[in-house]
Amino acid sequence: MKIITVVGARPQFIKAAAVSNVIRKKFDEILVHTGQHYDENMSKVFFDELNIPKPDYNIGIGSGSHGQQTGTMLIELEKIYLEEKPDMVLVYGDTNSTLAGALAASKLLIPVAHVEAGLRSFNMKMPEEQNRILTDHISKVLFPPTETAVVNLKNEGIEKSVYNVGDVMFDAVLDFKELAKKKSNIINELKLIENEYILTTIHRAENTNDINRLKNIIEALNESNKTIVLPLHPRTKKYIDSYGLSFNNNIKIIEPIGYLDMISLEMHSQKIVTDSGGVQKEAFFMKKPCITMRDETEWVETVQNGWNVIVGTDKEKILNSIVNFVPDKPQNSIFGDGKAGEKILNIIQEVK
Ligand code: UD1
Ligand code: UDP
Repeated sequence: MKIITVVGARPQFIKAAAVSNVIRKKFDEILVHTGQHYDENMSKVFFDELNIPKPDYNIGIGSGSHGQQTGTMLIELEKIYLEEKPDMVLVYGDTNSTLAGALAASKLLIPVAHVEAGLRSFNMKMPEEQNRILTDHISKVLFPPTETAVVNLKNEGIEKSVYNVGDVMFDAVLDFKELAKKKSNIINELKLIENEYILTTIHRAENTNDINRLKNIIEALNESNKTIVLPLHPRTKKYIDSYGLSFNNNIKIIEPIGYLDMISLEMHSQKIVTDSGGVQKEAFFMKKPCITMRDETEWVETVQNGWNVIVGTDKEKILNSIVNFVPDKPQNSIFGDGKAGEKILNIIQEVK
């Protein structure tokens, strides 16, 4: 059986790191990189350090508007599918690469498998919400990572071929945590003291594209008097520069980093402040309090379990939770047993 996996953005490389080598035990996998993320520290670093198979195709899409980016991907992916004639196309998450990968396949009647299906923020203004709903509705096999995601699919009438296999990002953390401990030296390089700094990421479009939201976030971080490490996503850098916003000295701005450095920073942090989907989950895996600068989250179980607090971009709420938010409950098991990749392999074998 031949599977084409489509990746394109940073979190998808990490998901593929957990799944590609597993599915290659039984299937021929062709890996297609759309080129949505292309800077060395947004793409190549992950392939190099996580032993992800080299992409068979990189279609070099680059940045652009949603229509331009998604449309060009559709054209190029269709050519590859027609040439390779895969039995299935596998996509991850909710980016423009996800939607293009799924839609190009669906129109050619190639079955689509969607890993991280069923997540909903119920905020249709998010490009990710549009991408994930559309992808779920044209997928043949759906791999929701949580029970909430299963229920979300059911509520939209999707009940067939739905398998909660757990979260592939949990597999990734388990696969690479020891390597990160051995290889990453970032705590020393940045002269950080364990458990005495906050790790922050910001990149969500609704935060970067609105000057007031981004300004509130940066003012809160500036006024927190905490050591904050902020690997800056290129999108966020672009908007900060164009709005003329600036950081105080308590904030260590660094370039985007590889996964091993990132999970090392997560592991040794005091708290994590983020608007990332993946980083919210990793905070939970690392048993770190998570402060989420969004108005809602897809990862509702982490909030219900008391390890994640939703603060939007309200400056006082961000500041208050940086100081006071401490989870008061033990963690429940939410994201499976770290064997999502193996389960995906077994299920695909059966449904093919
Ligand atoms: C994309 C996904 C988002 C995901 C995120 C992961 C969509 C609609 N959004 O958002 O769901 O959470 O990836 O990080 O698919 N840029 C560079 N170099 C790069 C990549 C991007 O400079 O290698 C800059 C460009 O200015 C670009 C901007 O970042 O316009 C945004 O990139 P894009 O891929 O469109 O969206 P992300 O914000 O990265
Ligand atoms: N990440 C990384 N380096 C960074 C920032 C994030 O390796 O500088 C990893 C992070 O550990 C997680 C994933 O990228 O595994 C999350 O991706 P991102 O926040 O870009 O996207 P999202 O998950 O919100 O879609």
